[in-house]
Amino acid sequence: MEALGSEQRRLRSLIDAGIALNSELSLEAVLQHVAEAAASLTGARYAALGVIDARGTEVERFVTHGIDAATHAAIGELPRGRGILGALIRDARPLRLRDLSEDPRAVGFPPHHPTMRTFLGVPIRLRGAVFGNLYLTEKEHGEEFTSEDQELVELLAAQAAVAIENARLYEAATAWSRQLETLHEVVRSLVEESDIVLMLELICSRLRDLLDARLVLIGLPEADHLRVAAASGEGGAAAGLLGRRTPLERSKSAKVLERRQTARVDSIVDDPEVDQDDARRLGIRTGIYVPLIARDRPIGIIAVHDKLGDDARFTDGDLRLTEIFAARAAVAVDLSERVARDTVRRVVEAQELERGRLARELHDETGQALTSILLGLKSIRTAHSEADAQRAEAALRGLIVQALQDVRRLAVELRPAALDDFGLAAAVERLAETFEERTDIRTALEVNLPDGRLPPDAETVLYRFIQEALTNVVKHAGAQRLSIVLTQRDGGVGVVVEDDGRGFETADVRQDALGLTGMRERIALVGGTLEIESSTGAGTTIVAYVPLAIGADAAVPSKNPAIS
Ligand SMILES: Nc1ncnc2c1ncn2[C@@H]1O[C@H](COP(=O)(O)OP(=O)(O)OP(=O)(O)O)[C@@H](O)[C@H]1O
Ligand SMILES: [Mg+2]
Repeated sequence: MEALGSEQRRLRSLIDAGIALNSELSLEAVLQHVAEAAASLTGARYAALGVIDARGTEVERFVTHGIDAATHAAIGELPRGRGILGALIRDARPLRLRDLSEDPRAVGFPPHHPTMRTFLGVPIRLRGAVFGNLYLTEKEHGEEFTSEDQELVELLAAQAAVAIENARLYEAATAWSRQLETLHEVVRSLVEESDIVLMLELICSRLRDLLDARLVLIGLPEADHLRVAAASGEGGAAAGLLGRRTPLERSKSAKVLERRQTARVDSIVDDPEVDQDDARRLGIRTGIYVPLIARDRPIGIIAVHDKLGDDARFTDGDLRLTEIFAARAAVAVDLSERVARDTVRRVVEAQELERGRLARELHDETGQALTSILLGLKSIRTAHSEADAQRAEAALRGLIVQALQDVRRLAVELRPAALDDFGLAAAVERLAETFEERTDIRTALEVNLPDGRLPPDAETVLYRFIQEALTNVVKHAGAQRLSIVLTQRDGGVGVVVEDDGRGFETADVRQDALGLTGMRERIALVGGTLEIESSTGAGTTIVAYVPLAIGADAAVPSKNPAIS
């Protein structure tokens, strides 16, 4: 009667354990529960659950019950797959022993390990494959484990398998939704973020988060070396790596790039392609290398190093995820290169047009003036009287003065000396004065800039902007008043040029008009913005803003000498 009661009690707690297990969603918690339930079902003092790695040779995760933290710490590294544990991995059948140490396969315990004699080991199978083992030792009162104990633990193992699978599915699904969210964010920023450096850093840091990696790098080839274009590392792992260059012939990444094939390295020290000195400096142990391929061209590489946790190796899933990110990064790099090329082309075109206009002016106006002067000289020589000669000389003088003014004006248009010598404020003051004199348009200038010079890029861009805006006012506005305001705001300089002229419909601007387009592009090149507010009859307001941290980052376009 007594025996039956205890048997029923045990079955009852087995069912309870099953219910508890199935309501648990985290894999770690499921494993812990299984170990605890097994111990309480059998009266074992110690229980452990070993999860076997993908290769089926070693225990990769070991959950224990009954060993306190201090003992755990004293034992240090947990068993991996030798001795009896190894035997159960290789031969996945339940095993019961009266004394562990008597078995010929036993290898003994590490120091500080509690004594364990009686033993019951049961495999946990998941769809035919062995997922892990349940180990129980030291049944209460020094008794041996019975065949009923074994049966109960086998039943528990079957339930545990289902719970483990659920938890794995749940974790995978959660991980997937996290991955999808991150990918979505990366794709969105691909559309919104125009700064390639920021974009690549985002890819690095998100990928590192998802994979739990210690270090993620993106390298771009440059001549005969590979340059680190973005990096994200745990702690200070990525510090100082940005911009680092490695010669192509010494770089594992370069070889992967050449082969255009993803590579996974489970042990960096054993890889002959890796420069070991370099690997030691970075402290890397494992890696995934994925080439960035855009339109069939290898343009860079993502390298991921060291999975955090006990096992630094990456999984197939990690590899696939890196490949997905690599595809995104490739698009980003390719796009930015194309944009840069396109911008350079258009700016060069605009410059060429500007040169053409100046050449025409030189030819038409100054050239004509000089021709007239030549003719005038001749008329002095052939003058019939002193009075005629004087008249001719006076006319000549007028022509020369005119030509001189034209040449000065052209020189100023090409590049005002005031801009180089005294800076933006002074050059704009001069510009406004001359403008008022030449046009009779009442011009008000307000400058609220800090003393000192702005970066040369900013000065040139802003000066050209104001110059073009004023030219347009003369050419198109028919204005009576003009106001120019320069202010410092948000770490940059804002310029507002406003006239009270006839205005225009921005949508109707001719396709071949280059003034505003060129202006917009020049400003965009230094990371600024341009807004035009105008409608027929209501005057025109143009607002430009240029940030002052120009050239501080490696934004590709503005570094190009062709557009200085
Ligand atoms: N301040 C203004 N007032 C009235 N219309 C303007 C003003 N600025 C520009 N526009 C209109 O916008 C058009 C485009 O100007 P934009 O500077 O791009 O070209 P453009 O001056 O005609 O030629 P370009 O500058 O290439 O010599 C002008 O043709 C004109 O119709
Ligand atoms: Mg114009």
